[in-house]
Amino acid sequence: MNAAASPRRALRVVQWTTGNVARQAVRAVLVHPGLDLVGAFAHSADKVGRDVGTLCGFDPVGVTATDDVDGLLALDPDCVVYTPLHFSVEEVARLLGAGVNVVTTSEFLSGTGLGDDERRRLEQAAQLGGATLFGTGMNPGFAQLLGGVVAGVCTLVHHVRITESFDVSLFAVDGNMDELGWGRPSDDPGHPEALRAATVVFADALDVLAALFDVTLEERRCTVRFSHATVDLDLPGRPVAAGTVAGIDLRWEGVVEGRPVFELRQVWAMGSALDPPLPVDSAYTVEVDGEPRIATRFEIWPHQDDLAALTPEDFHALGMRITALPAVNAIPAVCAAPPGIRTYADLPVISPRGRLRPRG
Ligand SMILES: NC(=O)c1ccc[n+]([C@@H]2O[C@H](COP(=O)([O-])OP(=O)(O)OC[C@H]3O[C@@H](n4cnc5c(N)ncnc54)[C@H](OP(=O)(O)O)[C@@H]3O)[C@@H](O)[C@H]2O)c1
Repeated sequence: MNAAASPRRALRVVQWTTGNVARQAVRAVLVHPGLDLVGAFAHSADKVGRDVGTLCGFDPVGVTATDDVDGLLALDPDCVVYTPLHFSVEEVARLLGAGVNVVTTSEFLSGTGLGDDERRRLEQAAQLGGATLFGTGMNPGFAQLLGGVVAGVCTLVHHVRITESFDVSLFAVDGNMDELGWGRPSDDPGHPEALRAATVVFADALDVLAALFDVTLEERRCTVRFSHATVDLDLPGRPVAAGTVAGIDLRWEGVVEGRPVFELRQVWAMGSALDPPLPVDSAYTVEVDGEPRIATRFEIWPHQDDLAALTPEDFHALGMRITALPAVNAIPAVCAAPPGIRTYADLPVISPRGRLRPRG
């Protein structure tokens, strides 16, 4: 189903699950004149048969969630927006093999983190079905595109560092935090290795950056420094005891010609009562060491004017929105792309086509 769709025909979209990212993805599809929500998959049995709008917290939209995959394929979708908590090679290979393009935020960009066999299986399914698989999100995902774009004014580039630096205590309850090891004891054996496994999608993200520079990585390294809570932290859904892990400073580095040239740094702090201190920047930054040197700061602010009235849920939704939109906005380009696993290095500029609404 990879033939470029007629510009007049809205692309038929199926949403896969209706969790945090999906809620933003569904709305982004609904308000886009070039996209048509035709179906939705429910992982949770109690969501089957319910309206997707209702599941996402807004008015009914006339699309019912189902667990009938054949029924969804029979809708002849152009693209699935695949945003479950965990990526299933089985599910995605089935969609691709049936000729359905897939955009995903579920910890997939290049497939390196899955291993060679699984990656090959997805590539083969995509080729068989003539479909395209594209993974993104904010970080990993859009942040690597930013890195490549920012370095586009350089004559020479020696090093690129992309940093995400936030107080994540507002998101403490989020299931995506489960495997990071908050509250593990200091010097707990195996914690760095577990964290590497939990964040291996950043190995994919290094691949995206390498592809944007058209280089091959010799090695992908992961190192971490922990900070510990100086007081008991009474975080919603995730209490963290004093003396245990409450700050993570994680670096994934890509090596070319024996030198680390790409650095993806994640600074995640549960508040500020930490030892050693782990101050946060509350932004994404891109630093390029090259000719010239560049520093860029990417701040995201809620669209609401009254910031004081915002709840933790509003801020969480903001994080999910900037995760979902790089995937949803890529749908037209992904549907027009050649079959296979594709990254930002293969796609044209993902434009905000269909998104402009002058204030009236
Ligand atoms: N790259 C980025 O910037 C970025 C940022 C945030 C999140 N993410 C990734 O985006 C994906 C979605 O995140 P999210 O916060 O939306 O997740 P979520 O709300 O916790 O879960 C999404 C949905 O996954 C389904 N689900 C629950 N448990 C599952 C399981 N054990 N196996 C498979 N599916 C399960 C549920 O589907 P039903 O709706 O049918 O119940 C749930 O609503 C995750 O993989 C996350 O890591 C990426």
